[in-house]
Amino acid sequence: MIDSKTKIIGVIGKPIGHSMSPAMHNAAFSRLGLNYVYLGFEVTDLQRAIDGMRALGISGFNVTIPHKIDILKYLDKIDTTAKRISAVNTVVNDNGILTGYNTDCAGAVDALASKVKLKGRKIAVIGAGGAARAIAFGVAEKGAHILIINRTLAKGEKLVSDVNGFFPDSSKCGTIKELEDVDIIVNTTPIGMNPNIHATPVGKEFLRKNHIIMDIVYNPIETQFLRDAKSLGCMTISGIEMFVGQGAKSFELFTENKAPKEVMRNAVLNLL
Ligand SMILES: NC(=O)c1ccc[n+]([C@@H]2O[C@H](COP(=O)([O-])OP(=O)(O)OC[C@H]3O[C@@H](n4cnc5c(N)ncnc54)[C@H](OP(=O)(O)O)[C@@H]3O)[C@@H](O)[C@H]2O)c1
Repeated sequence: MIDSKTKIIGVIGKPIGHSMSPAMHNAAFSRLGLNYVYLGFEVTDLQRAIDGMRALGISGFNVTIPHKIDILKYLDKIDTTAKRISAVNTVVNDNGILTGYNTDCAGAVDALASKVKLKGRKIAVIGAGGAARAIAFGVAEKGAHILIINRTLAKGEKLVSDVNGFFPDSSKCGTIKELEDVDIIVNTTPIGMNPNIHATPVGKEFLRKNHIIMDIVYNPIETQFLRDAKSLGCMTISGIEMFVGQGAKSFELFTENKAPKEVMRNAVLNLL
């Protein structure tokens, strides 16, 4: 029951109406009998939204496009991983002190690491945006070698330089033609996302049977990229795994309870 003691958690972004985070987190609160509610807030003026969050004592919130970078300047503390990545997707309000975290990183790394050992593996990351940054830093920390393939070379080079600044010689830029030599390919671009469900970031001719393929697009659950990979016999990892993984890590930061991941996954699958 929602009452005067209910703790409020939210997600801020623009647009926000499509977000699956409210359903995912509310299902988890309900399963554990926690007196929390999770809402979506469409935010244009970030500074005023943060002031409002502080004034109302909102317990925590997720941050999505387009605020994941700008939010950093409004926070009191930023954890080491989020600072390296320069993006925050989770904020915890501890008695007025706002601390920023990046759970996209651990969500993606756990999704990969649950299927394959990352140390020493060659991983191609397609894209160099916010999600690519989280994944590149995460897998570099696990000892992987990274090939960044991005449409805008300068942005790819910046990511390589940033990652190599912390994990020397872990990363380089490359092209699709170099996929022959990698073990794992992760799509972090929106290519293939609903409604463009037949688009793929990597033509089937560049894939081979022993590639492990992860797509972080989760709508549709099975993208064209994953379908092509499956048809060749590749091991595949759906974007749902990262989405539920990041949500579970955020949930644990918000509530200090172990996240009921299956409940969260089912809530998302029901929406899809
Ligand atoms: N599963 C999850 O939990 C999860 C978490 C976060 C994000 N996501 C999804 O991941 C995707 C990316 O999110 P983001 O925050 O990283 O976005 P972002 O910061 O805008 O980065 C997008 C990246 O994709 C590239 N790109 C976009 N359209 C392209 C196209 N038509 N052809 C080639 N490259 C293209 C961009 O290249 P340029 O640099 O050339 O512009 C950029 O590198 C979104 O679909 C988002 O929903 C999923």
